[in-house]
Amino acid sequence: MELSRVSPLLSRLVAAPGLLLRRRFTQNSTLFLLHNSNNKSKVILLLKHKQSKALATKAAAETRTRTNMVKAIRVYEHGDPEVLKWEDVEIGEPGEGEIRVRNKAIGLNFIDVYYRKGVYKPAKMPFTPGMEAVGEVVAVGPGLTGRTVGDIIAYAGGAMGSYAEEQILPANKVVPVPSSIDPVIAASIMLKGMTAQFLLRRCFKVEPGHTVLIQAAAGGVGSLLCQWANALGATVIGTVSTKEKAAQAKDDGCHH
Ligand SMILES: NC(=O)c1ccc[n+]([C@@H]2O[C@H](COP(=O)([O-])OP(=O)(O)OC[C@H]3O[C@@H](n4cnc5c(N)ncnc54)[C@H](OP(=O)(O)O)[C@@H]3O)[C@@H](O)[C@H]2O)c1
Repeated sequence: MELSRVSPLLSRLVAAPGLLLRRRFTQNSTLFLLHNSNNKSKVILLLKHKQSKALATKAAAETRTRTNMVKAIRVYEHGDPEVLKWEDVEIGEPGEGEIRVRNKAIGLNFIDVYYRKGVYKPAKMPFTPGMEAVGEVVAVGPGLTGRTVGDIIAYAGGAMGSYAEEQILPANKVVPVPSSIDPVIAASIMLKGMTAQFLLRRCFKVEPGHTVLIQAAAGGVGSLLCQWANALGATVIGTVSTKEKAAQAKDDGCHH
């Protein structure tokens, strides 16, 4: 096959997400195996050595560039959900003290809405929203100890940007997630759970006999507050906007 015919094909394949490129050498030619990481598509090219050298150099350069691209939500202007754009972003490799994480589940919080609408000002525009997630460590920075590739970790409340396939994070801002906890549960509970803990155990130590009023009792933080305050022995009063939310708040431990 002519290089001029193969090269555009290879370029298109290299551009496909999750593509793996492998080479196997025979006496006179090189065998290329190209397949997506989900193993759904596979292409095999057999080329003479002369052709394959040029092709391999080009493909290697393109592959290096592509693996640093991931999908993320970006916001260029404040507004309703339509301003959320699903785009390619460059991520790079982790530096010292950093890890690269492939997100498995991303937690949503009302603060994401505040940033999207411009009630809170992001540090820069465009920005990627999202305060928490659970993911798998896919690379660690040079010399880093204590975290290894394959670890499942959770993070919350640091720099914004979890609405993304992958992120670079400071390794000392993540916690391990035990295998007994579903990543979806863990991702939904970090920031809201820490907020509930702060309100019920640190701002004021809620104890049996106390009465607690919880606004938006069926929201993410609200539903945790209801369960936790009830478990602490408090009388729990909730406010909600609909009957369905009232039923949920009661299920979560609201007395009134
Ligand atoms: N998530 C956190 O970790 C965290 C941390 C610190 C502070 N907070 C604050 O705690 C509050 C709740 O946060 P959350 O993350 O739990 O939010 P959420 O799950 O999105 O719940 C928000 C609740 O707010 C009520 N609400 C009032 N106006 C609303 C509107 N315009 N659109 C949608 N919901 C509206 C709704 O309850 P009703 O329909 O019953 O009114 C809804 O259930 C927010 O003010 C947030 O800034 C949250």
